[in-house]
Amino acid sequence: MSFQIPRGTQDILPEQAAKWQYIEQIARELCRRYNYQEIRTPIFEHTELFLRGVGDTTDIVQKEMYTFEDRGGRSLTLRPEGTAAVVRSFVENKMYGYPNQPVKLYYMGPMFRYERPQAGRFRQFVQFGVEALGSNDPAIDAEVIALAMDIYRTLGLKKLKLVINSLGDVESRKAHRQALIDHFQHRIHEFCDDCQARLHKNPMRILDCKKDRNHELMRTAPSILDYLNEQSRTYFEKVQMYLQKLGIPFEVDPRLVRGLDYYNHTAFEIMSEAEGFGAITTLCGGGRYNGLVQEIGGPETPGIGFALSIERLLAALEAESISPPISEGIDCYVVALGEQAKEEAVALVAALRQEGIAAEKDYQDRKVKAQLKAADRLHATYVAILGEDELQKGVINVKHMATGEQQEVSLHTFVSHMKNVLQ
Ligand code: HAM
Repeated sequence: MSFQIPRGTQDILPEQAAKWQYIEQIARELCRRYNYQEIRTPIFEHTELFLRGVGDTTDIVQKEMYTFEDRGGRSLTLRPEGTAAVVRSFVENKMYGYPNQPVKLYYMGPMFRYERPQAGRFRQFVQFGVEALGSNDPAIDAEVIALAMDIYRTLGLKKLKLVINSLGDVESRKAHRQALIDHFQHRIHEFCDDCQARLHKNPMRILDCKKDRNHELMRTAPSILDYLNEQSRTYFEKVQMYLQKLGIPFEVDPRLVRGLDYYNHTAFEIMSEAEGFGAITTLCGGGRYNGLVQEIGGPETPGIGFALSIERLLAALEAESISPPISEGIDCYVVALGEQAKEEAVALVAALRQEGIAAEKDYQDRKVKAQLKAADRLHATYVAILGEDELQKGVINVKHMATGEQQEVSLHTFVSHMKNVLQ
């Protein structure tokens, strides 16, 4: 019997894992600079949280959640995204009472959506995301967008497009909602079942429909930007002013609505424009969600954030032929010849490791030649050879692999010698 990995998931093998670590390290370092702190929430939450948080007319909730009943009869769901969980934790831990506001958080971890797998779309994928809770300043919207752009740029990506929109406040949304109903209702029978069901519940979702996106009524649908009230328009203008101040180019796209229900005011996505990048070009999505904290039982608190998946980021790097600088290879391989030397090598390797040196030895009882080959495959910077003769003389032969230079070193000073030459 043989087993296969579940559809839409992937093993990250050691060579790939090094790239992941590099990306994670850059994301963490940028969060440190922007003063965002890490939060870790559970992989599963009560299903109700996502119904409330993400919205029960969204594709995520209607079609994509991994929901199960636990042995105690509770309905739980593998998190499809991070924002609802972070907000749940924010409320539960009364972070709105923290002296430092806004509370700026980041997270990194697997999310689960039952989607049709294709290039760039997985059923388990890793999101890196940030949430800034407690500020209504358009400058924080610009900061959040800048942080996302900074991650991509630091990694070397150039072919990026930032698209922004405003979804307005409650009042603006109400006016737009009615305009959408008026626009679609006479011909709603030409649309898919989902759109029909969403017409009165949440007509904005129709604009996000994948099946009906080429229907002529989609192109002529009323634009949210024409329904923004004074306050929403001013807010949006300020966000744009700050982006310009930060030197971040962007496009305004009034059709950008995002796939989750909690958004208002600023919404944005970052796409890859690299040639050969698959059909799904969105690398990152985010926006403001001023009503969500209240929806989840907390006091009225504004919030904004984004999430990006590492899988799509890696695909974008590949499309732009960027390979992360990964230092592979160990510092020193200890080759041993003879029974006594083998025993000594165990202690030498341990001593090197104690000093922070990446060291390896043979565990396959290989001949010297094969041990040297293994050292080569591991890209060892140095090889240290210990034979019966050397052992008797109390020395070890240290060879620099790149230059071929050799040196006999006393066994007593071997570790400190290696420390010196490796510095
Ligand atoms: P989202 O647009 O659903 O937003 O997902 C954000 C990002 O996650 C996408 O741009 C994409 O990079 C990645 N992603 C989503 N689904 C998949 C998938 N099936 N396979 C691979 N990558 C995927 C959110 O999740 C919001 N929580 C973002 C946010 C945070 N808004 C405010 N704060």
